[in-house]
Formats: sequence, C-alpha cells, structure tokens
Amino acid sequence: MCGIVGAVRTSEASGFLLEGLRRLEYRGYDSAGVVMISPGGELERTRAVGKVGELEQALRQKPLEGTTGIAHTRWATHGGVTEPNAHPHICNGTLALVCNGIVENHESLRDNQRAAGLSFSSETDTEVVVHQVYLHLQNGLDLAEAVRATIAELHGSFSLAVVHAGEPGRLVAARQGPPLLLGRADGENFVASDINALLPVTREYQVLENGDVADIRGTECLIRDRAGEIAVRTVHTSTQSGDSAELGEYRHFMQKEIHEQPRAVADTLEGRLLGDHVLEESFGSRAQEIFDATRQVQIIACGTSYHAGLVAQHWLEYVGIPCEVEVASEYRYRRHPARKGTLVVTISQSGETADTLAALEEATRQGIAGSLVICNVSESSLVRESDLAFMTHCGPEVGVASTKTFVSAMSGLLLLALVLSRRQGFDAGFESHVVRQIRTLPTALESVLGMEDAIADVAKVFGDKEHALFLGRGAHFPIAMEGALKLKEISYIHAEAYPAGELKHGPLALVDEKMPVVAVAPNDLLIEKLKSNLEEVRARGGRLFLFADPGSGFVESEDVRILQVAPVDSAIAPIIYTVPLQLLSYHVALIKGTDVDKPRNLAKSVTVE
Ligand code: AGP
Repeated sequence: MCGIVGAVRTSEASGFLLEGLRRLEYRGYDSAGVVMISPGGELERTRAVGKVGELEQALRQKPLEGTTGIAHTRWATHGGVTEPNAHPHICNGTLALVCNGIVENHESLRDNQRAAGLSFSSETDTEVVVHQVYLHLQNGLDLAEAVRATIAELHGSFSLAVVHAGEPGRLVAARQGPPLLLGRADGENFVASDINALLPVTREYQVLENGDVADIRGTECLIRDRAGEIAVRTVHTSTQSGDSAELGEYRHFMQKEIHEQPRAVADTLEGRLLGDHVLEESFGSRAQEIFDATRQVQIIACGTSYHAGLVAQHWLEYVGIPCEVEVASEYRYRRHPARKGTLVVTISQSGETADTLAALEEATRQGIAGSLVICNVSESSLVRESDLAFMTHCGPEVGVASTKTFVSAMSGLLLLALVLSRRQGFDAGFESHVVRQIRTLPTALESVLGMEDAIADVAKVFGDKEHALFLGRGAHFPIAMEGALKLKEISYIHAEAYPAGELKHGPLALVDEKMPVVAVAPNDLLIEKLKSNLEEVRARGGRLFLFADPGSGFVESEDVRILQVAPVDSAIAPIIYTVPLQLLSYHVALIKGTDVDKPRNLAKSVTVE
C-alpha cells in the first residue's frame, strides 16, 4: 500500500512533502521517510519507524533543506518494520527511490546485483529497484531511460519516484500498477499516490497510465508511454475539499464516522429518489441500457465491502436476479465461464483496492453486460474503469475500520435491487413500499445510536476475552461477519461469524462459559430457527448477547443479555443492525486501549495485492 509524494519546487519542498505524507498516512503507517537534494547537491535522508508524527519529530531535530525531494509512508510487505527497511532507499549515496507495490522477481535481481558488487542495507524489494536503476545509469543511460529499462525488467505491480543527487530539479516517476498522479502549479511539479496529497498546491492533476514514465525537469514534465512515445494525459480537476477531516467533539474518527451515519445515508439518498421511485440515472448515464441487458449480477469486493455484497445478494435474489458474490483476491485467479448478460458490481470505499481493480479488469476481459462500482471516492481508479458508478457521497472516511461507507454502500445496493426489480415484473407497489422504508433510514440510524451507553456497558464483558462468536441468519449473517471483522481489526480479539444453523456442524465445540456469543436477532422469518440455535448455545453454558427487537420474543436472564433495537422493516434491518455491532467493537477497543483509527498492521487503502 504505501504512499508516495515528490516535488520539484522553486522554493523549499520539505513542508509540502511532510503535509503530503500526513494526507497519505491512511495508506500505511509502519514507517515514513524523506530524501531531499540539499543545496550542496547531496542526498539528505531522514527516516523513522512509526507514524508520520515520528518522522515529523525527527525532522524538527534535523530539518532538511532543498527544492527537490521524495517521501514515503510505508505499509510493510517485504522486510520488517524497521528504520533500515523504511523508504527512501539509496544506492551509492547518489540515487534515492520510493516505491509503492510489490516487485515479485526481487530475489533473482538481488543475486545478480550481489554478483555485480552491490550490497544491501535492507530486506526490501525496493532496494533492489534502486540498485537496478543505478546499474543502468552506470551503463550510460540517462535517469529516465534507466528507470524505463528497470521497470521493463521488474515483475509485479508498483509505482515509484526517483531523484539523483547530481540532478537537482529533476524527478522521474513511473507507474506499473498502483496509481500515481502528477500535479503542476506555478511552474512547480509534484507527484503523489493520490489527490489528497496534491490538494494543498493544486486541484489539477494527470493520472499516469501503466507503463508511463514521467520525467520532471524544473518547470517541465514529459510523459512517455510504455513504447517510449511522448504521451499526453488528460488534465482532471478535482472537486474534493482540500481540508483534512477534523475530529471535532469526538475522540476518534471511527466514533465520529459511526455517529455521522444518519447524515451519510441521507447524503447517499439525496437526489436518488423521486416520490416512491428510485431514479435510475443515479447509477450513471448508461444505466438504462446496461440494466436492460442485465440477466445476473456478479458482485466482487474485499473485506467490509464484500460483506455489503453478501447482504445485497439477499436483496437481488429476492427480486429474482441470480447473484454471486466473490472476494476479489480469489476471483481474479479463477476461471470464469463467460455468462452473457452479467452485470459486474464492484464495491469499494476507496476505489483503489488492488485486488478489486484487478478482478474488474479480469471480468471485463470476459465480456459482460457492463460494470458498476459502488464507491465513495469519485476520483478513484475503480470509478474511472467502470461503465457505471454509484457514488455514496459520505464524505471522507478516515478511520481504518469502515463504518459509514458500509451502511451507505448497502443503501446504494438496495436501490440497485429496486431498479432491477422493475425488470423482473415486481410491481410499483413493491418499490414504493421499500422506498418508504429507505426514507426512514436516517431517523432509524439516529435512534439505534441511542443504544451506545448500554453497549458500552456490555463491552466491559469483552475486555478480557480472547475469542467471540457472532451469529446471524439470512441477510443478517453477513452483518454478523461484519461485526466479527470490526471486533478483530480494532480490538484484536479473535472473532468468527457463523450462520447460526451451522453451529452444530462444528463450532459448537468452542462454546463454554468463557465464550461470548453475539447474535443478530431481529424479528424476521428466521427468528424461530435462530432461537433454536441459540438454545443449543445456552445448553452448553454459552453467554449470549442478543441484538433483538421486542417482537423477537427473547427473555433476559443471567446468561442472556438483550440489547433492544427499535423495530424496523425487514428490508432495511441489515443496515440498522450494523450500527450496534460497530459500537460494540469501538467500546471494546477503548477498553483494550488500542489505536482505534490506525489499528496495527492495517491500512485504510489496500493498493497492493
Ligand atoms: C474494514 O473495516 C476494512 N477497512 C477493509 O476490510 C476494507 O473494507 C477492504 O480493505 C476493502 O476496501 P475498499 O472498500 O476500499 O475496497
């Protein structure tokens, strides 16, 4: 994942680089580093393990000067989280490079480089890349040509930026996978992994295409494509706000984003409904043509977004649309018999998840009716690559744990099910009933947030637990999966979700008085089945925590704690029942004292395979 930022300025560049790293920190925060070409024509480097704040402190002790520099925030792939493994990597004291991505053939290149007399100070694949560029320079190639020759030899998916001590005012950047953007303002040139880092200086940006090498020399920037031909890339203008998100009255972004959900969903729905009707154009100008050709839906996503897809599968199948849901990292490496009339729906908060992007590319190659992305970032790669886009309009999500974008994505997917239901012969009465329920979402979300104190109290039970089970049935099984994922990622408690009926096929063996069992239990068609499953848990001494509405008919007792959710229509229940589980994980994490917004080992945007 990692974030890259670089600049060739006419004035001091370090301020821009540091602010850029702060804005890219969501991509990885294992370590960070910066290299500047000093006024004396030398490479000056500072690196620090930990978050960008650590680097900032180090730079306060020993400020770097210069107008040309590159910087990096790391999410470790090859090599531990140590300062020697932090980027930028330097070869021969003269050449510095930052990289985002993975180089698969680094082992064989490393062997050749050792044979050529080069030594290594890190365990990273990136050090191999900087050495390779150096070897090409030694063979007489110019910096941009050396980078081009290097990327032709690398296997994998990466983007990079390089500077050379002997060429102040020059920076070479290349893309072969994860996005890399160029920005230009007042005769100065910038590169960054995403627009957030460029916004303090410019809204205008170009996106390098795979195989491109950009050669920045002072005020000039020349892009050449894979074939070495001069390439002109479209200049986009960002509409994103340049402000960094503020915490306001909240302690953590995750808490803020949980509480923003009524507003977030209202914003998602804004302009998408007309009376009791979903506006098809909410999905894009080609929506009618693509939906008319749609016979089945293939949903592809990762993590929380995958869970949104699993909920949507229930809705789509209910309205008669065959639907498969697949984890993107698996999809991309399977053979898929082409099926006419498939609408591929990707779901991604960031729009930059490498596996989802690759899966979309793979699906598109097969010949499909069209592709639709449900996404929160309008200037993202998935939006650019898809035929249709439904933007969730939730505003930036900063906490690594996805919350508001999950409920907003589900809201968008429910609208999709309604739009497709029309073509399946469902009458307007069905659509208008569900739309009336959808309109209640902001209020119902507000009401469920009122459970926070009761949930904070229950969270105390989980503080010293090592494991937890989450159960649900039907469309609430994916909500249980999401509850378990949230608990895992921010409180580091091992949590598993099961469809409650599966317990007796194995996981019941785990249940004893030490195992908290959380169940999502609204009063729906499967409630009686779920009750029987929960009785099986009680009979084994399991302690139950039930999120249920009064109609579910549970009775509280010593081993059964009920957290009452106000009754909601079953069409929107999965969206509503998500919120108490988010609050549970948040309050358990507070008790455990973890870094809620930046949990260990994770990053907000997963731009590597
Ligand atoms: C969940 O809280 C995580 N943030 C993670 O599972 C995330 O949903 C996944 O990495 C996919 O990200 P995307 O929605 O940006 O594609």
